[in-house]
Amino acid sequence: MTDQAIDRVEVEREAKPKGPLIYRQAILTRVTHWVWAIAMFFLLLSGLQIWNAHPALYIGAQSGFEFNNEILRIGAENTDAGPRGFTTVFGQKFDTTGVLGMSELRGNSNFVGFPGWATIPSFRDLATGRVVHFFFAWILVGALAIWLVSSLFNGHLWRDVILKPRDFRELPRDIWEHIRFRFHHRRTYSPLQKVAYFGVFFILFPLIILTGLAMSPTMNAGWPWLVEVFGGRQTARTIHFIVMVLLVLFFVVHIAMVVLAGPINELRSMITGYYRTSPGTEPDAPKKEKSK
Ligand code: HEM
Repeated sequence: MTDQAIDRVEVEREAKPKGPLIYRQAILTRVTHWVWAIAMFFLLLSGLQIWNAHPALYIGAQSGFEFNNEILRIGAENTDAGPRGFTTVFGQKFDTTGVLGMSELRGNSNFVGFPGWATIPSFRDLATGRVVHFFFAWILVGALAIWLVSSLFNGHLWRDVILKPRDFRELPRDIWEHIRFRFHHRRTYSPLQKVAYFGVFFILFPLIILTGLAMSPTMNAGWPWLVEVFGGRQTARTIHFIVMVLLVLFFVVHIAMVVLAGPINELRSMITGYYRTSPGTEPDAPKKEKSK
């Protein structure tokens, strides 16, 4: 780049209008967010360790040779080409050697559902996987309870998460804006963000917690109706797995959106609380607004 070009970029950067820096995320919103982000990491990897102990999913109350209710299986088998890993979904078999069913662990072929890099611990250890999973499950529940109570009191729930009639009206336009990667930085979340976060808080998180509890023998004794609500133990396990997949998909899109919307500004808001809004945005939290 020539000196002139560098000067032009500098001038353009200086001239680019900036909106006000506002206080957007309360301390408990930020702390609980990072607690559940860490908890979700350990829950996912320890959950896959537990799942590897029986790498198949069924619908109904029971599973076994006398039932024909399997919907997913990951395994390994001997073929003419040697041992191969496979995944069967609704009777359709796929060769997934290298990732699912058969993968490398420290230079050796490992016959296991999910590979070692995706589980905690990386080797087969159901007992440790369960200890880690149940520990972080309660951390997640605690963080969500604190989030719910604080969000009720500080207005975050009503302002940013609950969809109002206006959000539904603006949703199609907001989806179109997101498709064109046009992000508006405002005090509150956009309608599409509200849909995503509402879905996580009030559909995915409750479902994964309740189906987890439905698989617990202690809960089966205390609340036998819970497992019935989900259509039996095996269906509860299948729902738990599907919600895990949906949360992983949410996470991928969530990170992509943070990167596309401006990672420095987005991360600053989730670390310090302060957020640079688009020019022309009304700052509606004047007490904590910064002059810069
Ligand atoms: C499994 C892990 C994660 C889950 C389930 C999750 C979920 C969420 C949810 C539900 C919100 C809305 C919070 C609220 O308004 O109270 C949120 C906001 C946010 N998250 Fe995450 N998150 C995860 C990981 C991450 C990571 C790793 C990053 C950083 C790279 C991140 C960056 C952010 C940011 C910047 C916001 C504010 C978004 C905005 O202003 O629109 N999240 N996240």
